[in-house]
Amino acid sequence: MDNRPIGVFDSGVGGLTSVRELHRILPGEDIVYFGDTGRVPYGSRSKTTIKKYAKQDINYLRTFNVKAILAACGTVSSNLSDKDVEELALDIPFMGVVMPATRAACALSQEGRIGVMATTSTIRSGAYGKALRSIQPTARLIGNAAPLLVPLVENGLTDMENPVTRLMLQQYLEPFIREEVDTLILGCTHYPVLYDMINDMLGYRVNLVDSGAAAAREMQVMLCEQGLQANREQGTTVYRVTDTVDNFTAVAGNFLFKDIEASTEYVDVDIVASL
Ligand code: DGL
Repeated sequence: MDNRPIGVFDSGVGGLTSVRELHRILPGEDIVYFGDTGRVPYGSRSKTTIKKYAKQDINYLRTFNVKAILAACGTVSSNLSDKDVEELALDIPFMGVVMPATRAACALSQEGRIGVMATTSTIRSGAYGKALRSIQPTARLIGNAAPLLVPLVENGLTDMENPVTRLMLQQYLEPFIREEVDTLILGCTHYPVLYDMINDMLGYRVNLVDSGAAAAREMQVMLCEQGLQANREQGTTVYRVTDTVDNFTAVAGNFLFKDIEASTEYVDVDIVASL
């Protein structure tokens, strides 16, 4: 048993898809969520910058004495190599979303035609192709970058009938429809908040994988296997963001369906950048 918090981070609100699932399956855990809203988006940046930010984010979470860290960010998960993680000399488990999401997709896919929609840098990294080859080499992967979905989600344009978001999705989903994927990985953790809209546009024929939720479920298994679960009924979650609290908490409501203003604090991005 271990009552220290779990650290979860993303460039912005997207990682709340992992937090939402952690709340559902591990209600007794304390969580520290870090959203680097002052530097979002990560997905259009260079590998070097993404790695630099990710290392600072991880070091920031370490200051909370966390027992495990979840990079609830597809961009970080696909750009940070095992060697990068080793260099951080972490003495706690670290997990990303790529392997959990790929495992979930393989378990769901009947025909082995799997799509991944993610940020530009995630698609460019080739991480999903590598993960799929290691799990199910016969499966085919169709990737497409959907960079403009992140600002749409960060600005709360997520209602089912939103014409701008629908128009963008029409374009981004076209290759998956053309290639008749049977399973689509939402490889950026911002996208699952558009789950219903995507389902509707794909005609409910395609399995959708929420990468943030898939990672949360593997976090549960890992904590259990390593005897790291908390032994309390109800945990608490605190949120730290590098831009205005108001914007974050307003959009967070679309993910968590509750008001988190009282548990959210601003942290100066220069402090994070110095770590
Ligand atoms: N939520 C992120 C991801 O999973 C990052 C999006 C971004 O910052 O561009 O990739």
